[in-house]
Amino acid sequence: MPITTALSRLALGGALTLAALGGAQAQDDVRIGFIVKKPEQAWFINEQRAATEVGEELGFRVVRLGGEDGQEVLSAIDNLYSQGAQGFVICPPDVRLGSAVMNRANQYGMKVITVDDQFVDGSGEPLEGVPHLGMSGYKIGRQVGEALAAEIEARGWDPQQVAALRITNNELPTARERTDGATDVLLEWGFPEENVFDAPQQNTDTNSAFSAASPVLSQRDDFEHWIIYALNEESVLGGVRATEQYGLGADNVIGVGINGSGAAFAEFSRSNPTGFHGTVAVSSTQHGRQTAESLYRWITEGEEPPANTETTGTLMTRDNWQDVRAELGL
Ligand code: GLA
Repeated sequence: MPITTALSRLALGGALTLAALGGAQAQDDVRIGFIVKKPEQAWFINEQRAATEVGEELGFRVVRLGGEDGQEVLSAIDNLYSQGAQGFVICPPDVRLGSAVMNRANQYGMKVITVDDQFVDGSGEPLEGVPHLGMSGYKIGRQVGEALAAEIEARGWDPQQVAALRITNNELPTARERTDGATDVLLEWGFPEENVFDAPQQNTDTNSAFSAASPVLSQRDDFEHWIIYALNEESVLGGVRATEQYGLGADNVIGVGINGSGAAFAEFSRSNPTGFHGTVAVSSTQHGRQTAESLYRWITEGEEPPANTETTGTLMTRDNWQDVRAELGL
């Protein structure tokens, strides 16, 4: 039946469903997975929600799964295959899982896109052949550095008397790019390199940052003024909570994060300001929507997504967070 006839029947309230339209049939059957490394974090909750919503708009199903280690990721892929999924978007818990994940996906004929954290090969280079969408880590890191420098100036602090708590995660390339970007700006601006102290975290969450930060603060209790940066706001919040434990108040601390998720909104909504000064917000909504839609187009139209898409960020503080949130559709 010609589509126009079918549509007019629909309009007339006929018993026909969209699935009966030849071309739409296959698309209605599309099911994709969306696997994230930290399903409880606000960034990932919003990303998966946005993917689900674009699926509802375009007519495909999104199965949301957590994959907090390699074993869980492989089970998630098996699970998706048994549900008939044709592909998945993944933010992996470890970027070195790339070849294991791709082997499993290829066995099942599933298409894969990475979001946020890009797979690396044996030499630490981006794994080829897997389209990726993530933030432009170095540029966004530079925005963090600029915000920190501007706030040191605004408070009239002498940079020589300020310590930087750099919470690092050097195994994750995007994390390293972000902290490197911030460090470069600070040093170019004149921040003393010897005042930068590393706190290597085991993970990308608040608890691991808190554990990493505490010993550094106790070793350097000669500093009264601290700036804090890391790959994301969850980690900066861990650092800020650690400074509070050491009796440093909001006046002594400038933390600037990255993400612009519920974790930051909760902090900005407190009645009293904390040392969490701001965060460079990136649209997790866009990350979720765009990757899910690209995967859907790839499955249904054979259009392969670009190899690498980089997204940008906007500084969000206590003063403008609600506007930026609305602007970014968060
Ligand atoms: C990493 C971080 C997340 C978030 C994303 C954004 O996965 O762990 O908190 O910043 O990048 O791309």
